[in-house]
Amino acid sequence: MRAVRCHQPGRLQDLIVDDMPSPNVGKGQVLLDVEAAGVNYVDALFVEGRYQIKPTPPFTPGSEVAGTIAALGSEVDGLAVGDRVLVSCGLGGFSQQLLTPAASVVKIPEVLTAPAAACFTQSYSTALYALRTRVHVEAGERVLVLGAGGGVGLAAIEVAKHLGATVIGAASTEPKRSAALRSGADVVTPLDPSTLKDAVREAMDGGVDVVIDPIGGASTVAALRTLRDFGRLAVIGFASGPIADIPANQVLLRNRSIVGVDWGIWAMTHGDEQRRLLNELLHLVEEGVLHPTEPTMYRLDEAALALSDLLNRKVVGKVALDCS
Ligand SMILES: NC(=O)c1ccc[n+]([C@@H]2O[C@H](COP(=O)([O-])OP(=O)(O)OC[C@H]3O[C@@H](n4cnc5c(N)ncnc54)[C@H](OP(=O)(O)O)[C@@H]3O)[C@@H](O)[C@H]2O)c1
Repeated sequence: MRAVRCHQPGRLQDLIVDDMPSPNVGKGQVLLDVEAAGVNYVDALFVEGRYQIKPTPPFTPGSEVAGTIAALGSEVDGLAVGDRVLVSCGLGGFSQQLLTPAASVVKIPEVLTAPAAACFTQSYSTALYALRTRVHVEAGERVLVLGAGGGVGLAAIEVAKHLGATVIGAASTEPKRSAALRSGADVVTPLDPSTLKDAVREAMDGGVDVVIDPIGGASTVAALRTLRDFGRLAVIGFASGPIADIPANQVLLRNRSIVGVDWGIWAMTHGDEQRRLLNELLHLVEEGVLHPTEPTMYRLDEAALALSDLLNRKVVGKVALDCS
């Protein structure tokens, strides 16, 4: 089988595809034929050696995949060869095959394609965990989603609408704003820190109750100023690079709150709750409530290009590798 390997963390373009032996399936494990691997920001951080966890090289990046079960180990119940499943694997996903604990796989509803399923878990789980568990968004509230044409952004729009909110999406380009509208945003605006406050206040009758912020930097401070009384800003990520210095007076004003969202650590330490959350989300897909968009596809040997296009804001929505 072929797998993308990082032999020396640092530069994306040093990733190579190696031929590797097919792994043997052991007790409590399943072997997947991977159809697609979601490409995420965190995968680039691993390859560049910028993530807080530093795997020993050589390693295969890739944190979430979808595929079919090719073989079952002993003591595996409730799964069969041929089942379509997704898994959040952390590492190892940019590969034609993946060995994983049987307990980690989740069956995919018929309506979800393998590429969309491969990109689903991180974005949608983060969105629901942030909006419902961390900032307690309520029906009728107004939500500003930054990076609205990105993976977390598009998922947050759909989830916020499902929770009964009115949504304004902020994105840098027209194609990204169009994608935000297709995902259900009520209104969109350019993602420009110098105009964001006035644009959002004008479009949302004075401001919003919640900000979903996967961007960081100057956008965070501008977005904070769009919050009405008792507004909450969810800090999700820093896709723009810099981490904002927050003016504390802007938090005091109007009794605002800034709330951290570390879904990754929560999911790792609250496995049963994460499984329930993911199953709830997949059920919403099955019911036709959520409509994950199809990702932009790259070949397995284009992993470095896929990661760099993601980092350079070239793609709308999600990115995935074809691993078949
Ligand atoms: N806290 C958590 O648990 C958690 C979970 C998942 C993801 N995250 C983090 O959330 C962030 C976003 O993830 P994502 O999957 O939505 O990523 P993505 O699909 O790449 O979207 C990120 C968006 O950031 C915007 N952006 C603004 N300035 C940028 C810049 N200078 N460089 C690159 N992008 C810029 C881009 O939108 P525009 O071009 O419209 O500006 C882009 O669409 C990442 O930092 C990720 O690590 C955190």
